[in-house]
Amino acid sequence: MQITIPHPVLKGAKALVVGVANDSSIAYGCAKALRELGADLALTYLSEKARPHVEPLARDLDATLFLPLDVSVDGQLESVFDAVGKQWGELDILVHSIAFAPKEDLQGGLLDCSASGFATAMDISCHSFVRMAKLAAPLMSDGGTMFAMSYYGANRVVPNYNVMGPVKAALEAACRYLAYELGPQGIRVHAISPGPLKTRAASGLKDFELLLNEAARKAPVGELVDIMDVGWTCAYLATPFARRVTGGTVYVDGGANIVA
Ligand SMILES: NC(=O)c1ccc[n+]([C@@H]2O[C@H](COP(=O)([O-])OP(=O)(O)OC[C@H]3O[C@@H](n4cnc5c(N)ncnc54)[C@H](O)[C@@H]3O)[C@@H](O)[C@H]2O)c1
Repeated sequence: MQITIPHPVLKGAKALVVGVANDSSIAYGCAKALRELGADLALTYLSEKARPHVEPLARDLDATLFLPLDVSVDGQLESVFDAVGKQWGELDILVHSIAFAPKEDLQGGLLDCSASGFATAMDISCHSFVRMAKLAAPLMSDGGTMFAMSYYGANRVVPNYNVMGPVKAALEAACRYLAYELGPQGIRVHAISPGPLKTRAASGLKDFELLLNEAARKAPVGELVDIMDVGWTCAYLATPFARRVTGGTVYVDGGANIVA
């Protein structure tokens, strides 16, 4: 089958990356890898408090758009997609790399998670991806690729992952259903499942250091992953080389998930 490959491979592709908090964020690794392969970027920041930490990174990456986005604030997501539509008239790549659960609900077991904490975690970490996909799809008129960040705790019990286990399971299922619904439009949807990485979100998990040690011990490749490993995987999946790959959960964990 004939594939036309631009050079660099994502030259001129338009990518919206949500979830950069600082230079340790998985979203930052994704933005960097996509930029290195030629994509133009739109980045978001959570709040005015977060802005000074994200703005220099957006500048270094020559981001075309730099916009506020708290997915729990009514209308902000729509404003981001309005701005993307006005600036580019199209979108090729969407990266959703955000998660949140209230600390008291995250740090207790699932049995003790409140209904409102569960709903908040599900809304910000999962349903916001469905909302983004709905707004992104009309801009992906030539097809596109969407990513959401999951974790191994979606499929196996990882001590202390608690409410985020069911939330990530829902996110992976959402990716499958979105891949099914959007496939006919040439839009591919991937759940990416990175191994543990020392980020701000991860610091909310109890005994995270134990998880890191366990991941390094189990991984057949013998070491932990970094944010660029995740970024390069997304970048590859966004290229025409991966145009028949969709709907699955792609592990970027040095193979740890295959080891009992
Ligand atoms: N760090 C890990 O070990 C690991 C492993 C697997 C998956 N993940 C997933 O990767 C994703 C990114 O997390 P990270 O580890 O890079 O941490 P991070 O703290 O750098 O990123 C989390 C992001 O979520 C954003 N966010 C939180 N609430 C939001 C809201 N209401 N609206 C918009 N954005 C909001 C934060 O601003 C931040 O940018 C998350 O989905 C996380 O569950 C992380």
